[in-house]
Amino acid sequence: MKKTGVALLGLGVVGSGTYKIIVGQREKIKKIYGIDLSVEHILERDKSKAEALGISPSIVSTDIENILKNDDIKIVAEFFGGIEPAKTFLIKCLLKGKSVVTSNKELVCKHFKELEHAAKKGGAGLYFEASCVGGVPIIRTLTDAMQANDIKEIKGIINGTTNYILSSMSNDGIDYADALKTAQRLGYAEADPTADTDGYDAAYKLSILSSLAYDKHIPLECVYREGINKITAEDIAIGKEFGMTLKLLGISKNTDGKIEARVHPAFIDDNHPLASVKGSFNAVHLAGSNVGDIMLYGRGAGDLPTGSAIVSDIIFAAGKTTHRRFGFVDERVKRSDLISDFSSEYYIRMRVKDKAGTLSKISGIFGKFGVSITTVLQTPPTDANGDASLIFITHMTKEKAISAAIETIKKSDCVGEVCNVIRVER
Ligand code: HSE
Repeated sequence: MKKTGVALLGLGVVGSGTYKIIVGQREKIKKIYGIDLSVEHILERDKSKAEALGISPSIVSTDIENILKNDDIKIVAEFFGGIEPAKTFLIKCLLKGKSVVTSNKELVCKHFKELEHAAKKGGAGLYFEASCVGGVPIIRTLTDAMQANDIKEIKGIINGTTNYILSSMSNDGIDYADALKTAQRLGYAEADPTADTDGYDAAYKLSILSSLAYDKHIPLECVYREGINKITAEDIAIGKEFGMTLKLLGISKNTDGKIEARVHPAFIDDNHPLASVKGSFNAVHLAGSNVGDIMLYGRGAGDLPTGSAIVSDIIFAAGKTTHRRFGFVDERVKRSDLISDFSSEYYIRMRVKDKAGTLSKISGIFGKFGVSITTVLQTPPTDANGDASLIFITHMTKEKAISAAIETIKKSDCVGEVCNVIRVER
């Protein structure tokens, strides 16, 4: 059996996990798929990482030329993250006919077209299962298992860090800052957590998944994005009273060719399947025109879970003489196909003067903007001013209508502060 040479760009957490899986599963992969994977070169500055895995230093360097000039290397797996030097290196590999497997969501999201064109030119494959939701096989599900469907909707918890933080806030009644500190101490959140907490990571993934699902490029700038740093323990506790759980969701919909894509915190019913996804776990709920609803659940990060997706792509690429191409690469969603003013139900919490006429004044403003209320809750005054909290939940309404109503409410003399506005997804 001829060996399939593999190179690894980086030997950090996922690179090391990938190496361990390739070694551990080598005999099984040979037996079942007739593919003998052999790691021929690793690009890594820190040789001690290779030593720890028993890898000969002779195959470790910092020079991409060592990979480009080695004709035995057919597949290059990238773990650098970020745009450069990953982009330049991968384009060179693709043009040389070496297939690329990557977990780099930012690169795939922002530069897919250039990478795919280089892959086509070089006759190589470009595979990125690990870029979205780590070990959960969401891309293969969309591209292979769901071919017989039009995808109507993607709704998912596609960032483990924020799910861990929101789960801690909910379980322990603690505020965002404390939950973030714990997540950082335990290694779930980075020292600079903004890629996760501000929703960028989830937006990259939603852009990739939506482009695959709707066969049209949904670029990052078409994904509405809001992070979790304004969420308070109080909102989560009130949501619980209404039978709702708070999650950071990635949601995209294709309604008769009109596309909407958004990442933001949202309340969901406690009995929604996504509500039970706790801690750092991820899950994606898909609605297909024929299969109906399906949900995938699992680890969205980590050495072995993400390594599992990488090795699956390596095996997939190794078994191909003609590589898979994605139709969406040249077809971009048009402005006219984009729903920017989407509809949702809303939870609104405000601090108000506890006096006669306040409720009718505020309801009047909502009514003026066509916002219909389903539920109102007043909690007794708890602060020194004697202000009370008023919580409203609306019927489905346009984003534009709610924004306009809130702007007017903020100016009302009976309102101290509009504390939070959170979408409610059913
Ligand atoms: N930082 C991501 C998360 C994992 O928290 O889910 C990699 O995308």
